[in-house]
Amino acid sequence: MATTTTPLPTTRAYADPSSTSARLFKQAQAVMPGGNSRTSVFMAPYPPYAAEGQGCWVVDVDGDRRLDLLNNYTSLIHGHAHPDITAAATRRLARGASFPMPTPEEVELATLLVERLPAVDQVRFTNSGSEAVMMAMKAARGFTGRPKIAKFEGAYHGSYDYAEVSLSSAPDTWGSLAAPASTAYSRGTPPAVLEDVVVLPFNHLEHTVARIEREARHLAAVLIDPVPNRVGLVPAQSEFLKAVREVTRAHGIVLIFDEVISFRVGFQGAQGALGVTPDLTTLGKIIGGGFPVGAVAGRADVMAVFDPTRGGPPAAPHGGTFNANPVTMAAGLAAMRLLTREVYGRLDDLGAKLRASLDDCFRQAGVPGRVTGMGSLFRLHPVDRELTDYRSTRASAAEAERLTRLVRRLMEHGVLMSVTGLGCLSTPMGDSELEGLVETFAAVLEMERAP
Ligand SMILES: Cc1ncc(COP(=O)(O)O)c(C=O)c1O
Repeated sequence: MATTTTPLPTTRAYADPSSTSARLFKQAQAVMPGGNSRTSVFMAPYPPYAAEGQGCWVVDVDGDRRLDLLNNYTSLIHGHAHPDITAAATRRLARGASFPMPTPEEVELATLLVERLPAVDQVRFTNSGSEAVMMAMKAARGFTGRPKIAKFEGAYHGSYDYAEVSLSSAPDTWGSLAAPASTAYSRGTPPAVLEDVVVLPFNHLEHTVARIEREARHLAAVLIDPVPNRVGLVPAQSEFLKAVREVTRAHGIVLIFDEVISFRVGFQGAQGALGVTPDLTTLGKIIGGGFPVGAVAGRADVMAVFDPTRGGPPAAPHGGTFNANPVTMAAGLAAMRLLTREVYGRLDDLGAKLRASLDDCFRQAGVPGRVTGMGSLFRLHPVDRELTDYRSTRASAAEAERLTRLVRRLMEHGVLMSVTGLGCLSTPMGDSELEGLVETFAAVLEMERAP
């Protein structure tokens, strides 16, 4: 059936220095460092302030409307204000927002996750993906009695000291592929943190296995995001992931999959799509239906480190005032119930088609560019080289500048996405919105030819 294209609007009001967004940002800078509470939402010279969202569209306080390809950094898989999720959250909210008691909703959401993920026997909820990763690391240490964590160069796992190591490694600091250096992300990172994090090169099978074997005696966990956004959103190669599974199993190391983002690539997340089973999984974003959430989930013997019913303090005590709050749980349940295998299939098809169309736009325009991703996720790279690992996908200063300009132009033509080039789809999107997007993208690339 032929579809009609939804043309995307031109959106310039926010860029006016007298706009409401500009005024709000000025006010914000006086009371918050850098004017915000979340570095990732800053955009020079000031970000557009959101007013409301409906489905796949978001409107800012100056009335500019954009196709939302960021969906609160991949969380809003059903877009904005989905009626089922809104109804579930408000129904629950009207009966109390949080209690110093567990609620039935957390049992229901945990049950759904256990039923959906074969690698998961048990779940514990947190308020963010960062906390989920932090608790997974603590669980691995408690389970193995070993101190060190291995993680991959460039991979983002939230804002915990140990998770941030080598997040911003650069050519002058990253060392060899055989033994990538542990580099600090924030100033003042204790040297002990750097000593206890072993850095691995993503998608380099032999170097990774050899380094894990060398460090095995001290390693509690290997932490890996199978579709790591900050490693260019290049999926882990299947043989590579299987080798990581085998070597960790052989040495009694807990394998943690960070699926905070990648749970949106398939009905059973990336672990289902790539056919490799971790010991622990961290979740977040989509499982909260748009509300703050995280979860650590996995095999019962490892999850037992959190269990307070076995006499004495658990190996990894875990509290949190808002953990498993019932509003998040109710919204998350509604969101996850809507995500059937068929819905995932449709999103995957749309994602594959979009990535191919955007790649084609780069080629047709003669502008250097490649598109990576999986399922409903994509990432733009302003380069013409093979993209396989952190070092090949890391943008130089000039490339990052080109990408920022491209994303900024897209913003001015009705598209919201990340200045890092990350984008994602939501279930309210269809062919007509995506055709409108591709038309806009082609037009913006024409502007790139003559900057
Ligand atoms: C892979 C991954 N892990 C963990 C996190 C941290 O999640 P949160 O922002 O909810 O703390 C993120 C956030 O983007 C992420 O992408």
